[in-house]
Amino acid sequence: MVLEFEDKFREKVAGTEFVLPQNNGTSTLLAAYFAVGVGPGDEVITPTYTWICSFAPATLLGARPVFADIDPETLCLDPDDLGRCLSERTRAICVAHLFGTVCDMDRIMAFAQEHDLAVIEDCAHSHGARWDGRLIGSIGDVGSFSMQGAAPAGKPVGAGEGGVVGTDDRHLYERILAIGHLNRYNLPGEFTEEPFTGLTSAGWGAIKFRPTNLSLAIATVALDNLEYRNRRVQENYDALLALLEGVECLQPVRFYDKAEPAGYYGNMRIIYRPEAAGGLSVEAFQKAVNAEGASLGGRNYEGWHVTPPYDTGMAYYDDGRGAISPSEGYVPPRPEDLPNAMDVIPRILALPTMIEPPEGYVEASAAAIRKVAENFADLLPHDERTAREA
Ligand SMILES: Cc1ncc(COP(=O)(O)O)c(C=O)c1O
Repeated sequence: MVLEFEDKFREKVAGTEFVLPQNNGTSTLLAAYFAVGVGPGDEVITPTYTWICSFAPATLLGARPVFADIDPETLCLDPDDLGRCLSERTRAICVAHLFGTVCDMDRIMAFAQEHDLAVIEDCAHSHGARWDGRLIGSIGDVGSFSMQGAAPAGKPVGAGEGGVVGTDDRHLYERILAIGHLNRYNLPGEFTEEPFTGLTSAGWGAIKFRPTNLSLAIATVALDNLEYRNRRVQENYDALLALLEGVECLQPVRFYDKAEPAGYYGNMRIIYRPEAAGGLSVEAFQKAVNAEGASLGGRNYEGWHVTPPYDTGMAYYDDGRGAISPSEGYVPPRPEDLPNAMDVIPRILALPTMIEPPEGYVEASAAAIRKVAENFADLLPHDERTAREA
């Protein structure tokens, strides 16, 4: 059953020669960082706008994050900011393909190759998405997938809890096997490289990342209907965005030309432009749409460069005794170095993920949003309204 799951996941989602199911999409990132050799004193470039697990597992290996700005239109890591983040300690870049989007993998891979950096793709949200025809997760050195929850609120391939690591590199595969897998089918026979040859079926034994068979059974069913759900979600977004065309205060997230989005975990984002609504705050806009009965969510990440502990350091983790010291010499991020993130993140809103919405739901959602967008003046504070009318 496990092998059947792996074959399906490889074909439909990971696109890599090796796939290893794990117990969640955080352990897959820790395994990925270990695999590419991230260790004490290293730096890992990561977008500030992502889930914390894209980078935090690297701190357990003694490395620390360096936060890159985001592209204000695609919300992905801004390749133009990679140069600022680079130092002689940089070991890896972790990109996050958030909410169904795909990062500019051509530019990120070119930068990584030029500076000899490993690339980890965090694909937790975007199962089945592609870049230039290739499945995401198969472009960098390691792809990491979360299978937390179940659709539509959970990950596009949900297992309750689960994750998958994918790679085409046998060396990295063996390191991932060694760090977290035990009693896997033919495990001792899989180790061909020093220092792992000779390990027993217990592997290294330091940590256990193996998933339950029950989780993989659930995820196998989700894989069978992933294409259907991805297609339906896309069709419903297209319909909703078409109905919202001309609403000046909402700017749909842009996709790079080579990106084929999919998955859409966490809802498709849309960017609010208060200047097109008389300066009405994003919170007031969202509240008014919700009061009209439509689903419109707020941002869910603030930007980790302004969030504890990464805004100041990780001193709580560091007792100064050993080589693992992610806080020593940590330079807190300067908010002014990430101007796009500071500007855009507070204005991000979330449209609902719709697989099989009730009849008329898409139209009703659009009508509610349109109503608020067209009548924003009624929602402005009294003084501003009077000034505007005058
Ligand atoms: C971008 C991203 N990466 C990693 C993870 C971690 O996955 P898990 O919850 O399976 O540990 C998540 C979880 O939501 C996520 O959103």
